[in-house]
Amino acid sequence: MGRIAYVNGRYAPHSEAFVHIEDRGFQFADSVYEVWAVFGGSLADEVGHFERLARSLGELRIPVPMTAAALKSIIQRVVRLNRVSDGLAYLQVTRGVAPRDHPFPNPAPRPSVVVTAKSVDMRASEARAARGVAVITTPETRWARCDIKTTGLLPNVLAKQAAREAGAVEAWFVDELGLVTEGGSSNAWIIDADGVLRTRDIQSNILRGVTRRSLLGVVQSLGIPFEERGFSVEEAKSAKEAFITGAGSLVLPVIRIDETLIGAGTPGPVAKRLRELYIEGARPNAA
Ligand code: PDD
Repeated sequence: MGRIAYVNGRYAPHSEAFVHIEDRGFQFADSVYEVWAVFGGSLADEVGHFERLARSLGELRIPVPMTAAALKSIIQRVVRLNRVSDGLAYLQVTRGVAPRDHPFPNPAPRPSVVVTAKSVDMRASEARAARGVAVITTPETRWARCDIKTTGLLPNVLAKQAAREAGAVEAWFVDELGLVTEGGSSNAWIIDADGVLRTRDIQSNILRGVTRRSLLGVVQSLGIPFEERGFSVEEAKSAKEAFITGAGSLVLPVIRIDETLIGAGTPGPVAKRLRELYIEGARPNAA
């Protein structure tokens, strides 16, 4: 059976799953999204993603298309129909379809809702985490509201393509003060030269990562020294460890930043432990 997507009330094969050419998501990226990691068929950090979805919709004044409970049952059905055990679920909500004109359409159209799901090979994902990954640094070129999870991702696309061409998996954006904001699709963390775990504080210039928030609970329970404080590229390059977090990357050790190896050039013990504990906690029937 091929893959099945949900589009505006219909469950359809991917080859037949379309939105209208005047959908504002397509025309203007007037649209928000969420990505859940799926473990054992269940949505990881389920509530945190729905909360952030509600916030993104509210910030853009896109009407809430349906209750979180209704959305959840659609996402779960798409996960089941695609036989996803470990993988990713994707939800996109756009302002809807209207003749092309920049201001909000009046009356407001019905928001468009799209849901897809796909499996992830966890063996390959674990192998990649065991090797560690490289990141590049790149100037921050995004807008001032990176706290809203919109599909306006062109700077992220360009940065991640540059990363790929450099043999890296992620690009860390660096603001005008020389501080790392976050990655193209993940939050950025280091364990600095003094052994303090650091990640950027939450403002409008980074996404409020749900994995980030969830991992902070683990960090607290382990009593790891932690500061929510930005770090420079130089601090990152002289860090003991570095890693990224996100629904796609989970907790992924970074072993090289640009041309500089981090620590011993292998995944650090803290990042490895945090990955294990995060995944353990996210799996259903976790103790
Ligand atoms: N990206 N920062 C950015 C810019 C992101 O796009 C993401 C997630 C994160 C991490 O957020 P979370 O922990 O809630 O997934 C941080 C998703 C996975 C994506 O675009 O595919």
